[in-house]
Amino acid sequence: MIRAAVLTISDRCAMGAQQDLSGPTAVQMLSDAGIKVTQTAILADDRQQITDRLRELVDTGVDLIITTGGTGLGPRDVTPEATLDVIERLVPGLVEATRAEGFKKTPNAILSRGYAGLCKQTLIINLPGSVTAVKECLEVLIPLLPHAVHMMQGGGH
Ligand code: MTE
Repeated sequence: MIRAAVLTISDRCAMGAQQDLSGPTAVQMLSDAGIKVTQTAILADDRQQITDRLRELVDTGVDLIITTGGTGLGPRDVTPEATLDVIERLVPGLVEATRAEGFKKTPNAILSRGYAGLCKQTLIINLPGSVTAVKECLEVLIPLLPHAVHMMQGGGH
C-alpha cells in the first residue's frame, strides 16, 4: 500500500484565518484510491519551513508527499522553490500532464509553477491550492501513482 503525506501550504490557513479545504480534498481522494494518508500538516508560505518539513517527511520513509498551494505568482508563493531545494531528480511529466489537462478547462492552470520529483524513496508533487485544482490534478495523477511508486522502489517496468 502506498503511504502518503499531505501538506497544505497557505499563510491564511496556517494563521487560522481560512479553513483548509484543499488538504482534506486531497486526503479524501487519495484514501478513496486505496492510498494510506499517514500525515497531514498546514504550513505558512515560508521556504525554510516548507523545506524542513519536506525533509522530515522524506526521512519518515513515506512514499508520496502531495503539497497544495503556494504554486502561483504571488510574492509569497515559494512552494516550488522549497520543493526544488529538496528534490534530487525531477519527474516533470507528472506536473506537465496536470497543467495540460487543467488548461483545457481553466487556462489559468498554466500559471501553477509546481514541480514533481524524487528525494530518496519519496515522490513529491506540488498541486495548486484550490479545491477544484486539487480534484482536477489528482484525477490525472492517481492512475499513474502505483506504477510510479513501483519503479521508484526498484521494481521493473
Ligand atoms: N489547475 C487546475 N487544474 N484548476 C484550476 O482551477 N487554478 C489555477 C492554477 N492551477 C487551477 C489550476 C490558478 S487560478 C492559480 S493562481 C494557480 O493554480 C496557482 O495556485 P496556488 O497559488 O494556490 O498554488
